[in-house]
Amino acid sequence: MRNSAVSVDGLRVRRGGREVVSGVSFEIAAGAVTGLLGPSGCGKTTVMRSIVGVQIVAGGRVTVLGEPAGSPALRRKIGYATQDPAVYSDLTVTESLRYFAAILRAPSSDVDRVIASVGLETEAHKLIGALSGGEHSRANLAIALLGKPELLVLDEPTVGLDPVLRDSLWGLFRSLAAAGTTLLVSSHVMDEAARCDRLLLMRDGLLLTDDTPDGLRDRTGSADLEQAFLHLIREQEAARP
Ligand SMILES: Nc1ncnc2c1ncn2[C@@H]1O[C@H](COP(=O)(O)OP(=O)(O)OP(=O)(O)O)[C@@H](O)[C@H]1O
Ligand SMILES: [Mg+2]
Repeated sequence: MRNSAVSVDGLRVRRGGREVVSGVSFEIAAGAVTGLLGPSGCGKTTVMRSIVGVQIVAGGRVTVLGEPAGSPALRRKIGYATQDPAVYSDLTVTESLRYFAAILRAPSSDVDRVIASVGLETEAHKLIGALSGGEHSRANLAIALLGKPELLVLDEPTVGLDPVLRDSLWGLFRSLAAAGTTLLVSSHVMDEAARCDRLLLMRDGLLLTDDTPDGLRDRTGSADLEQAFLHLIREQEAARP
């Protein structure tokens, strides 16, 4: 693929003594929002960890921005928001972002920028431990935005958020992509899938499809992406020996 930001080729990962990603290959276009979808336990977080370079892999190749995943040169080019918030509960929002900005050697002016991006201005002085679930996950997302990384890997960034906040975060993702950032966003909410440029649908450690939302609707004859996904699952089951 031209302008590919991430290339995953034959990725295999074993966790807990069994194979949880079984030969997955795909490319992620630069400057686009790619959705990584699929049921709980299908391997989304594991694939993201492999791209970020923190997962031991059993086979295959993952190339990110032209370098092997995990290369030191990629450290400041990737922003990763983990599924479980990784922020310290005894620091305020501003303090934790200052702390991470220092580690990432991001300019200190970035702290206010990312707080505004996730809409946490009025909570900036609050302790992380005193935030609501949605505020907590937005504080976690803000860390990933520090230093304006070229690639953002966001693991279920909108879980627990109300529809208004979810909408505003998707607006943020779209504007980041319009400015050239590549985004990989996982979700199991199918209505978010419609907001992606491209969809990777996983099930049981396999990639079921890699298509645009419209392509997926056309191919399955379902106007609704949730129905389209269920259609693909039935197709996969019928094809099993
Ligand atoms: N630390 C671990 N040790 C053993 N097995 C694990 C570990 N982490 C994940 N797994 C297993 O690997 C598989 C894939 O997990 P993964 O977290 O990638 O799924 P996911 O698609 O992100 O799920 P969810 O939507 O619930 O976040 C699951 O079967 C899970 O139980
Ligand atoms: Mg996960």
